[in-house]
Amino acid sequence: MSDTLRPLISARRIKKRVAELAAQISEDHRGAPLTLVIVLKGATVFAADLMRQIAIPFVIDFVRASSYGNSARSSGAVVLGDEARLDIAGHHVIVVEDIVDTGLTIGALAAALHQLGPQSLDICALIHKHVAGARPVDIRYKGFDIPDTFVVGYGMDYAERYRHLPGVYRLRPGEAG
Ligand code: IMP
Ligand code: MG
Repeated sequence: MSDTLRPLISARRIKKRVAELAAQISEDHRGAPLTLVIVLKGATVFAADLMRQIAIPFVIDFVRASSYGNSARSSGAVVLGDEARLDIAGHHVIVVEDIVDTGLTIGALAAALHQLGPQSLDICALIHKHVAGARPVDIRYKGFDIPDTFVVGYGMDYAERYRHLPGVYRLRPGEAG
């Protein structure tokens, strides 16, 4: 059986919200050296749109963080890579993430980045998924709140598929075999 996709957030709504977030970031960071740290791979589509709407100078870098493997449930174990080489001491940093679910990934990443001595560290996430019992996460720049459901598209995947979709969809995986 194949996967079922149902539209949740349209490309049009995303575009509007991304422009609002970029305007807010531009306003808040006027005159301060800014670095966007983009979380691979899921946040790349969001970040590409966001950065083209930010009206102040900034630089970008990337980190890798994964907790899902190829399943639709967080494993709880967060694997980080590459962040030790980031040059963010004294910078205002915004971590750009696709989706915050349990908060484990962004929590581990924020702790690792804090060690590198940024002047400030904020989170920008396209989506905050509300799951029972999740750790509270302070997302300064947030696109959308959604209920506890698995989503794909606009950079987000299920087993590496569906990242190219222009909107966000709920996914019900088909049965294997
Ligand atoms: P957390 O650590 O549970 O907050 O999970 C965050 C990470 O898991 C994100 O960076 C995503 O890559 C991935 N993730 C969480 N929920 C979804 C989803 O609904 N679809 C696709 N990826 C997700
Ligand atoms: Mg991710």
